[in-house]
Amino acid sequence: MGDTDDIAIVRLDPDDAPHGLVLSTEAHWNQNEADWRFFLTRGSVFGMRVKGGQLVATAALLPYSAGNAWISMVLVTESWRRRGLATKLVDACLDDAAREDLTCWLDATPAGAGVYGPLGFTPTLELRRLRLENSRLPVAHAAASLATGDLARLTARDIDAMGFDRGTLLAEFAGRPGSGLLSNGDAIALVRDGRTARHIGPLFANGADRALALVDAIVQSGTGPLLIDAVHTQAAFVEGLTASGWTIERPFQRMRFGRATAKPAELPFAVAGPEFG
Ligand SMILES: CC(C)(COP(=O)(O)OP(=O)(O)OC[C@H]1O[C@@H](n2cnc3c(N)ncnc32)[C@H](O)[C@@H]1OP(=O)(O)O)[C@@H](O)C(=O)NCCC(=O)NCCS
Repeated sequence: MGDTDDIAIVRLDPDDAPHGLVLSTEAHWNQNEADWRFFLTRGSVFGMRVKGGQLVATAALLPYSAGNAWISMVLVTESWRRRGLATKLVDACLDDAAREDLTCWLDATPAGAGVYGPLGFTPTLELRRLRLENSRLPVAHAAASLATGDLARLTARDIDAMGFDRGTLLAEFAGRPGSGLLSNGDAIALVRDGRTARHIGPLFANGADRALALVDAIVQSGTGPLLIDAVHTQAAFVEGLTASGWTIERPFQRMRFGRATAKPAELPFAVAGPEFG
């Protein structure tokens, strides 16, 4: 290890996707190379490389719309932690955001919240990441039949929930090989592949029972581990998931830097993922 003052912050490009993936894999995160490519083509990703070229730290700023952006992929390889690298990289994201007058949001791990609080981020809602190791578990009630959901309907509900438009992101997710846009009645969700587990979200429904029925149907429709990032205050939904065999893996704290924007008209049951909001 050397002095951190010698390490310049550089902007990464799409060729860095495999190197970013090494860092997120080290942290046991679920992002795959397609996720990194999205950040590297649609956002600004800052990184730090040590002598020899190894990428040891990253942070990404992903602009959305209506003056909002998401910060994520804040990762520092273990041997370089607690030396201020994450703080410097998040600062670089905030400088970029300030030039565009963007309000920044993020979903923090407990360790990340320790970095963002001192920088001026304030907490908003809480999430719980839940995991189901094996789908096709027996469920209490028959799985509802699944239909292909309508992207325009999902996007409209997402705008209500976020207060801004993320249509480009949702269309990219829905278009990936292996993704599904699924609905039963008023409930609708995106399901996409991750590095180690398929991810359900965002998920919208008119009630917790409708949201749980959709999750059950998704569970019954495939195999392998599943992840869902549930909104903590959707208590009946979180309780229903844990009663059906899902386990809470970790909390995330949503935080905001900058002025409050439009108040959301709808609370989702599950979000697109902490890295995307
Ligand atoms: C969280 C992470 C990015 C921090 O990187 P870092 O370069 O070590 O962070 P910094 O050195 O800039 O830390 C600045 C301050 O944040 C706080 N902090 C950093 N890591 C922390 C931890 N693990 N637990 C609690 N607080 C922490 C401390 O107050 C620290 O100041 P100090 O070292 O003077 O006490 C790094 O541990 C990591 O990659 N973890 C795994 C992935 C992850 O959780 N990323 C955050 C996603 S939101």
